Amino acid sequence: MDDFIYHDGRLHCERIPIRQIAEKSGTPTFIYSRATLLAHYDRFAAAFAPLSPTICFSIKSCANINLCRLLAERGSGFDVVSGGELFRAMQSNADPQKIVFAGVGKTDAEINAAINAAIGLFNIESPAELENLIRIAASRNATIRAALRINPDVDPITHKHTTTGKKETKFGVDLEMARAVFDQFGRDKYVKLCGLHVHIGSPVNTVEPYIAAVRRSLELLTTLRAAGFQLDTFDLGGGFGAHYRGSEAPDAATYAAAIVPLLANQGLKIILEPGRSIAANAGVLLTRVLYTKQSGTRRFAIVDAGMNDLVRPALYDAHHFIWPAEPGPQFVPNPRGESDSIPGTIEMDIVGPVCETGDFLGRARKLPPVQRGDLVAVFTAGAYGMTMSSNYNSRPRAAEVLVEGDTFRAIRRRETYEDLVAAEIG
Ligand code: LLP
Repeated sequence: MDDFIYHDGRLHCERIPIRQIAEKSGTPTFIYSRATLLAHYDRFAAAFAPLSPTICFSIKSCANINLCRLLAERGSGFDVVSGGELFRAMQSNADPQKIVFAGVGKTDAEINAAINAAIGLFNIESPAELENLIRIAASRNATIRAALRINPDVDPITHKHTTTGKKETKFGVDLEMARAVFDQFGRDKYVKLCGLHVHIGSPVNTVEPYIAAVRRSLELLTTLRAAGFQLDTFDLGGGFGAHYRGSEAPDAATYAAAIVPLLANQGLKIILEPGRSIAANAGVLLTRVLYTKQSGTRRFAIVDAGMNDLVRPALYDAHHFIWPAEPGPQFVPNPRGESDSIPGTIEMDIVGPVCETGDFLGRARKLPPVQRGDLVAVFTAGAYGMTMSSNYNSRPRAAEVLVEGDTFRAIRRRETYEDLVAAEIG
């Protein structure tokens, strides 16, 4: 639970009792720990240090510019997939040379913005995109570095919606086409095709898919080098896991032990794009019980956060550990796992106020008894929480708060009803 810890039966973030944040900022609120965010970044950087990689934090996972600034100050670059993410990365004082731009559907406007920003690398997802990039670069007389995203046809063994490295997904090009793309475009003077990019899926909770993906990439790289192409960059993407249930994800050192030996001494600049493994456990979603009810055999806790705030359970059947913030000393959760065997817990569904049956945060969970007004924490919500939130049911988006030791501050105000209609014209 990193820096989210129960003392005397009360949840704290670093040295702040969670209740204080609820009193000041209301609920639902995403609460982030600066110490946890940076500790995860530092552990990742230390584990992969033998490769001297450029770490490009995947901004899609957690995008508040205050959090991104902390990472940029620590030396992180950013993996962006849209003009909006590029804008955020620049607002976060990123070094443009440490920005990589992926995505299957880059528009001309986004490409031009990235050229203007002088980003470090374009990750190309199709021959058609590369042709377009060459056209734009030539018209501007700009020289650009690009890596070809390849699809190594490796199964990352994760949810079908977040599997990207299999042949049938829309990402990258397969290994045979990769060779053809280099033959056709690999000597262009405006777009220097200088490397390969892979991202096999997310989360990938075993090291074997990475090993297979790296091996296949290196084979291709060797063939391409033998054919005279100058490749100096390899971007391994992200996908490193985080603990949602217990300790299911390998730690950074375990991933690095498998990956570093394969990539060391290959004459390659290495890029890594972690998102979830840095941010997921740096944030919780704090919500409040509005009502409890019994319906047939099922018991419900209806809370004030819903699928518009955290869509992962509805979208991927994702599991987030959920626990009251002040359950009392007899209900201190077991750090990651088996808390449901604590005597006195009761099975319930934790659901939101949105008008959809799929609007749940957790189903059939054993929790300490809760009642109206209780605060409940949804853990591991720092990644793909706020960034995937929406205004569905015209619900203003949650506030975001950053804790630093014994202080905390709002880093995004709660949206208002006026915000909901602000962009609507007429
Ligand atoms: N690089 C690329 C090219 C990616 O597409 C992604 C994630 C990452 C890096 C970062 O992956 P990470 O290290 O965070 O696992 N919304 C889903 C996850 C979608 C991931 C999309 N791509 C979820 O909530 O689980």
